[in-house]
Amino acid sequence: MSRITDVDLFGVYDSRARRTVEATVVLASGASGRAGAPSGASTGVHEVVAFPKGGVPEALEVFREKVAPRLLGLEASDQAAVDMALHDADGTLDFSTIGGNTATAVSVASAIATADEAGTPLWRVLARPDVDGRSFPAVAGNCLNGGRHAIGGPDIQEFLAFADCPRPEDSIRAAVRVHGLVGEALHRRFPKAALGRGDEGGWVAAISNVDALELLSEACAAARDELHLEVHPGLDLAASEFFDEGQYRYREQTLDSEGQIGFVSKLVDRFDLRYVEDPFEEEAFDAFAALTKAVGRRTLVVGDDLYVTNEQRLALGVERHATNAVLVKVNQVGTLTDTFRTVDLARGHGLSTITSHRSGEVPEGWLAHVALGTGARGLKCGILGGERMAKLNELLRLGRATGI
Ligand code: PGA
Ligand code: ZN
Repeated sequence: MSRITDVDLFGVYDSRARRTVEATVVLASGASGRAGAPSGASTGVHEVVAFPKGGVPEALEVFREKVAPRLLGLEASDQAAVDMALHDADGTLDFSTIGGNTATAVSVASAIATADEAGTPLWRVLARPDVDGRSFPAVAGNCLNGGRHAIGGPDIQEFLAFADCPRPEDSIRAAVRVHGLVGEALHRRFPKAALGRGDEGGWVAAISNVDALELLSEACAAARDELHLEVHPGLDLAASEFFDEGQYRYREQTLDSEGQIGFVSKLVDRFDLRYVEDPFEEEAFDAFAALTKAVGRRTLVVGDDLYVTNEQRLALGVERHATNAVLVKVNQVGTLTDTFRTVDLARGHGLSTITSHRSGEVPEGWLAHVALGTGARGLKCGILGGERMAKLNELLRLGRATGI
């Protein structure tokens, strides 16, 4: 194992053509790793800050002055030491000095360099102690976009195909088929309208939440009949985005917390939802707990903005039995070590983890390794677009390498 001899941070573009950063870490042996960091649009208020105030130019400057000198000479395989150096360079609780995206890019690039040096796949470097790499995540693929990811679409942010098959090949095939069938159904329903594509590659149409869910549910049923594979509808409501002064304000209705619990429970029953993310605003632990109690045996109730991959936030949720699953996004918390703490806490309490992309992504596949290595129950990474397909194709390759 060898030490870091060179580090670099470079400004690149994400899938929304917004600027982000990628890091390169070079080791004494000549091994190296490169990783870019994604960015969210519907970010949680408790997330770390993606960039310092001056954006990418300031991130690059701060990196040169404060981060790089602390990384040089460190043993890259000591992930905890690398990630601690990032915290030390930053000196705040929310990475507002160096930027959470700098931390993510360096943390992941260092793990990739370690894997390169050892000649092992990245997921093994990331693997939690009880993970053997034979259990593959379900694929949650975004078929219809709304909310902040799709101007003119429904209020609910994501209408997902939750494809739950032992082989990644099958999960991906099922999710891709549902995406295609949803597109065909939309063309039939709006023959004269131009259909759009949202930030995560799902379709965009001027359609109500319940109509969109009906269409998705029919597409899942058709895909199940055709392929004989398990695929069911799921949602990410990203409810903080339409929560205002104590009310959930949809275009068609306004609901208080009780009303929202009832509305979402009914959707779970009516459409046999297997996945429900952020059905309430990001402080509503009690409402999450009520829903989990009501439907948690038959569906994954997932906290994203609620937890922001943060160990302390998740500890609050565990205490209150708020959810049975947690979304995991490395750049919500900054480093792999912080991510592992959250994952370990979740797994220790029997909660499922779902590894997730962001709406602004980089065209790289490392997220599939995070999912496999952390024993994720699901990988949410979209379907359409090179930046989404990079992750699905990597999952396919991992399935092939395992012979599953
Ligand atoms: P974001 O959305 O990447 O824009 O935060 C994804 C999600 O809410 O899951
Ligand atoms: Zn979400």
